[in-house]
Amino acid sequence: MDIFRKKKVADLLKTQPRLKRTLRTWDLILLGIGDIIGTGIFVLTGKGALTAGPALSLSFLLAAICCGFAGLCYAEFASIAPISGSAYTYSYIAFGEVIAFMIGWDLILEFSLGAANVSAGWSGYFVSLLNNVGIHIPTALTAAAGTTPGVTTYFNLPAFCIVLLVTWIISKGINNTKRVNDIMVIIKVLVIVVFIACTFWFIKVSNWTPFAPHGVYKFSHGTAMGIIPAASIVFFSFIGFDAISSSAEETINPSKTMPRGIIWSLVISTILYILMTLVMTGVVDYHVFAKYLNAPVLAVLHQTGQLWLAVFVSIGAIVGMTTVILVDLYGQSRIAYAMSRDGLFPKFFGEVDQKFLVPAKGTWFFGIITAFAGGLINLDVLSELVNIGTLSAFVLVSAGVLVLRKKEPDLHRGFKVPGAPVTPIISIIFCLVLIAGLNWETWLRFAVWFAIGLVIYFLYGRKRSVLNDK
Ligand code: ALA
Repeated sequence: MDIFRKKKVADLLKTQPRLKRTLRTWDLILLGIGDIIGTGIFVLTGKGALTAGPALSLSFLLAAICCGFAGLCYAEFASIAPISGSAYTYSYIAFGEVIAFMIGWDLILEFSLGAANVSAGWSGYFVSLLNNVGIHIPTALTAAAGTTPGVTTYFNLPAFCIVLLVTWIISKGINNTKRVNDIMVIIKVLVIVVFIACTFWFIKVSNWTPFAPHGVYKFSHGTAMGIIPAASIVFFSFIGFDAISSSAEETINPSKTMPRGIIWSLVISTILYILMTLVMTGVVDYHVFAKYLNAPVLAVLHQTGQLWLAVFVSIGAIVGMTTVILVDLYGQSRIAYAMSRDGLFPKFFGEVDQKFLVPAKGTWFFGIITAFAGGLINLDVLSELVNIGTLSAFVLVSAGVLVLRKKEPDLHRGFKVPGAPVTPIISIIFCLVLIAGLNWETWLRFAVWFAIGLVIYFLYGRKRSVLNDK
């Protein structure tokens, strides 16, 4: 049995979609923004500002360019194979089964761990909002054990509950998912725009000088500082546009709408990020963010005296993070669905609920696991695994564009990466640089996850793959 056997695009295109096609370009853009804007802008900007100074906006631009190149590669694949599965399906065409399985396994890590991580950040904002209105949840139930030094905690109840609530919404069908996501994305974008409009007037140009106090890259007191290290941190802010491509099978005219959804959600998020970071570092001396690492946006509101905006911004953050969890879990269920349909995962994950036309059992399976992960595990140490998982997927998708252009130049491509082969190569280089910037523990954990995946493939997937019947 050849473990590198590939799927033919012609066969893929004959796949009978069992999910309902309802998504249009606008829905895809909102799904993309739903998964992109979240913890990154509401939490990571503080650490980013301390690392790069006011040049944080350039770090965001750099991370955006990296994701933009990868996004173009996703868009080309999405236009070739507009069915469920995202990078998993693309790898099946370009590299063969075992690599596809591993990347699917890797996407499960990206989406589930990403959602669990964000649920912990969500819980922090939610608990403090409740405190503001006089409702107190027992501290022991606000975080996983060992999360806060000196404070006894056992279980993150709010994180657990939000993941289950979101899972329930997704299990009720794509129309419900879409509706909830659309409303929440509009609220969070509105909050960001209002925040920028209200605080913009307080910018002091003197706060921007020097603009890049740590330069492009420098090693100081054992820590990497400057524009590039900050870009590695805020890269997390852009993760999520790739989840759009997992909805290809529920999209109307996907070979056109999919590339538009990916590119526009990235462009809109990048513009908002750059404006927001310019305002934040223009209003507040960047050193001040050291005191506001969990909620850097509040540093700005303290400086401008607009504390009345704080509740509004907290609601924006809560809503913003909810959509990240929503789209992550949605993407997750569609990857498992595609793998199950190919025989590489148990049938259970591919069973479609006849009323809501979604893979409901798989959605609940991963939703419950993710809820327990968010409730029980101290995720701080695992958060970089999400970055390495995503970057690995980006590398394979970019390399896949090169391989497929060479092997199957005549395939119909509704969208072509401009500037290929240079663009995919730059994308790979950018991703490898960011992977190299992660610490060795992350590499090790990723290797362990990979090894478990390989065992599952050889013990289960290889024998049951539907390609065995061809
Ligand atoms: N991009 C997502 C966020 O910033 C993962 O929360």
